[in-house]
Amino acid sequence: MAYSEKVIDHYTHPRNVGTLDKSSTKVGTGLVGAPECGDVMRLQIEVDENHMITDAKFKTFGCGSAIASSSLATEWLKGKSIDDAMKIDNMDIVEELALPPVKIHCSVLAEDAIKAAINDYRVKNGLEALEVAKSH
Ligand code: FES
Ligand code: FES
Repeated sequence: MAYSEKVIDHYTHPRNVGTLDKSSTKVGTGLVGAPECGDVMRLQIEVDENHMITDAKFKTFGCGSAIASSSLATEWLKGKSIDDAMKIDNMDIVEELALPPVKIHCSVLAEDAIKAAINDYRVKNGLEALEVAKSH
């Protein structure tokens, strides 16, 4: 299948690959897997005292679309509040990267990783975890 130019760009030059200190209370970590293909994505956010995301990093063991989705997600996350970050929808990623239907689950992985990272941060900081269940 043909990847879009944006996918190839993120895949060949992934933004924000790396790791943040998991033990820090400022850092939220989301680790999710895709049942469809067994790919795994880890996405981390660093959050300041005003609940703004100051940094984001990812590591994805998966296909090109999953790598591109998580790379794009880290770009979108920086500078957002955790509440606005919660609103990132996988279909926004699908649209931006022009993912074909068979690759939609790769973007779901990114949305799930974002939400898992936010909830990890919330729980660490005495906030309630938010409902993330969504039927894709
Ligand atoms: Fe696993 Fe896409 S099916 S890499
Ligand atoms: Fe499985 Fe992309 S994450 S094919």
